[in-house]
Amino acid sequence: MRYTEQSLPVGVIASAWSSLDVDLLVVPVFEGEVPALPADLDAVLGPLVRAVIERREFTPKAFTTLVLPAAGPGWRPERVMLAGFGTRAACDARRVRRAASAAALAARERRVRRLAMAASGALPLADEARAAAEGLTLASHYSGIYKSGDEARPVPIEALVVVPPATASADVREAEREAGRGYILASCSNLARALTNEPANVMTPRLFADIAGQVGADAGLRVDVLDEDRIAGLGMGLLLGVSRGSAEPPRVVVLRYDPPDAPARPLLGLVGKGVTFDTGGISIKPSDRMHLMKTDMAGGAAVLSAMKAVAALKPNAPVIGVVPLVENMPGGRATRPGDVLRSASGKTVEVLDTDAEGRLILGDALWYARELGATHLLDAATLTGAIGIALGRDMTGLFGTPAQWTDLVARTAARAGDRVWQMPLVDEYREQLRSEIADISNIGGRPAGSITAALFLQEFSGGRPWAHLDIASTAWADEAQPWQPKGPTGVAVRTMAELACTPDAWPPPVA
Ligand code: BES
Ligand code: MN
Ligand code: ZN
Repeated sequence: MRYTEQSLPVGVIASAWSSLDVDLLVVPVFEGEVPALPADLDAVLGPLVRAVIERREFTPKAFTTLVLPAAGPGWRPERVMLAGFGTRAACDARRVRRAASAAALAARERRVRRLAMAASGALPLADEARAAAEGLTLASHYSGIYKSGDEARPVPIEALVVVPPATASADVREAEREAGRGYILASCSNLARALTNEPANVMTPRLFADIAGQVGADAGLRVDVLDEDRIAGLGMGLLLGVSRGSAEPPRVVVLRYDPPDAPARPLLGLVGKGVTFDTGGISIKPSDRMHLMKTDMAGGAAVLSAMKAVAALKPNAPVIGVVPLVENMPGGRATRPGDVLRSASGKTVEVLDTDAEGRLILGDALWYARELGATHLLDAATLTGAIGIALGRDMTGLFGTPAQWTDLVARTAARAGDRVWQMPLVDEYREQLRSEIADISNIGGRPAGSITAALFLQEFSGGRPWAHLDIASTAWADEAQPWQPKGPTGVAVRTMAELACTPDAWPPPVA
């Protein structure tokens, strides 16, 4: 795997538009408004801008763009891109982020190298700088690294967010700080996307662990990689049961962020499903769309990437990331339906379907995060196809307990730009996991498949505040959108990193 950071940090500049030394200036335009252009742009393009809007050659619907050449005395940006922002009333951080991405993707197609984007003024300046920086950075993700030609490979864009020239310098500094945070979070989302996009013949448990070692060391995190012997020594029978059908040995990656002056508790434990390929095992999946199961480590990629972001954002509380890594294959030594496995926590599990493997490896990983002292837990996992039936492709399912913890995760996600929806842990459905022979079975039947999967995980949360993000339908975009190409999305990275940054808001640890 070749991963090089595709993006350059996004700067903030308080400047008149005419004097910007860039190839292209993005000008936000709202639906139903005649844009009030500053005098310098009005002099070079005012009549044309008004004409294209009046003629409806350009409608400022969200995520539309139109590029116009611009030239005139004292005017520097060679091109102006009108960027549709939709209505001002509907303009929130998500709209700014996505519109910035759409504009940067369009600019990238034109091989622009230096881009400036004017603040729309629809949000407080710092919020807008943050959202715009995220959007501009997210647009630099590139999926085609295995293509031989270099034509499609994006050039890194140097991007500036332009705030009004008269802005107070303290406000500019705050906008810069927020843009810096946005850049960190978005470039770490892009790391998760790059990892998730790798084919499974490349992205094995061992390679993921090696990359985690490098990324962690570069970021100043402590990294511990457990090999098969240590995993066995800890008694992680659920994880080993999934792994045994594969020729690839399993790994468990532990990343640790330990700020020197922070108390040891509370300790946030981030846990991510790392199935580098999910054939289903002996309960094998149908072959159409099976190739997408290379993305079954997206939760693990999100944890590694969030830990990298945490190391850069430096919150004042310790955080650990635990990523259990296996390949789920139907080899001759594979676990069979009906086999009983013993978890590290001591609970026994009857494996009625070897395709419900994510909950098995996460059961042991949640236990291990607790062993390492985690007082609060958040996991991300491409866990169930059923969550896509319930919530569709733009909304991640959020489960957990207590409400104080899941509410905080929900608010954090909304701020971070991951769309999540809270789902119930219906106590009565625990029945569906009953086993005749073991403590619990690993499937709960068709009804409420995402809920019974979450109830299974809860068995391993030890009663600590625990939340679970089912990202099976949101980790991969099946269709291109104006703000995002088809492919990995980097979902959950920003929520996890942001949650780590607000330790004061966490509920008190239990026991
Ligand atoms: N990795 C899959 C879930 C998945 C499905 C992720 C589609 C991304 C897209 C998971 O391991 C799985 O196979 N889940 C089963 C559970 C069932 C056997 C109880 C499912 O959803 O069908
Ligand atoms: Mn599966
Ligand atoms: Zn899976």
